[in-house]
Amino acid sequence: MKKIGVLTSGGDSPGMNAAVRAVVRKAIFMDVEVYGIYQGYNGLINGNIQKLELGSVGDIIHRGGTMLYTARCEEFKTKEGQKKGIEQLEKFGIEGLVVIGGDGSYQGAKALTEWGYPCVGVPGTIDNDIPGTEYTIGFDTALNTVIDAIDKIRDTATSHERTFIIEVMGRNAGDIALWSGLAGGAETVLIPEEKFDMDDVITRLNKGQERGKKHSIIVVAEGVMSGNEFADRFKEATGMDTRVSVLGHIQRGGTPTASDRVLASRLGAKAVELLVSGNGGRAVGIEKNQLVDYDIIEALAKPHHIDLEMYNLSKELSI
Ligand code: F6P
Repeated sequence: MKKIGVLTSGGDSPGMNAAVRAVVRKAIFMDVEVYGIYQGYNGLINGNIQKLELGSVGDIIHRGGTMLYTARCEEFKTKEGQKKGIEQLEKFGIEGLVVIGGDGSYQGAKALTEWGYPCVGVPGTIDNDIPGTEYTIGFDTALNTVIDAIDKIRDTATSHERTFIIEVMGRNAGDIALWSGLAGGAETVLIPEEKFDMDDVITRLNKGQERGKKHSIIVVAEGVMSGNEFADRFKEATGMDTRVSVLGHIQRGGTPTASDRVLASRLGAKAVELLVSGNGGRAVGIEKNQLVDYDIIEALAKPHHIDLEMYNLSKELSI
């Protein structure tokens, strides 16, 4: 393989730039030309493609977002859209593609694989919900952003002796809520993977207040319900007013942590190695700090698992 392409797609995540840099530099190191496909699968369909050089990815390792831009592309979900994308790749003589993104991006890579086009998926999403890897690029940075917010909210929650509800992202996964709740010392964490009982939430908060706790922090994953909806239900059950903080898209931005940069560099380089050595149709990941790769179709068929041991621990430690 002498020419490969790289694109980022779906919700951006901090560390995507470090992954793009790794793909470009590793490919050039291996004497392979690299083409950047801008604006995700939209750019692929429209031929928004440019050759990248070593310098094209200079000064980006520490930047959030993605220099290749990103998009969510409905057209690429159709056979016609996929065909158009493959025609563009053939027009530019691009023999294989590295796709950096989350679930939707992987579905696109899977479709290309089913057309017989060599593709490797690199997990880039703050949600940490991609099967075949313990961590996704951007998750660690997003967690640190959430924890910073929780710490700040805790100051005002304590001063006013209030209960705060903090809504975090994660799509259908509770990883951001669980990890940030544990690291931020939240009284209650609600995740979509586990049903919650309002009576239990209230009993726990009451017990904390009886022993002198000055505040309560409840982290709600967006996959459970919105923070505002939970606040309404909580008020209905207790008559108590709360304050709601929806952290939103700040969770997607910012300087990637060292951990995300290292992960992105390792995964990006591994993807190129696989592609160039003729191993398309793979998804790269990290397990027990070792790089792994799986058949992308099989990987996507597996469900994402949350760490329930950690969920129980967060309950035990927040009594
Ligand atoms: O997948 C990343 C993510 O930030 C999710 O956590 C969230 O549900 C979604 O994207 C938001 O998407 P958008 O930026 O299109 O509103």
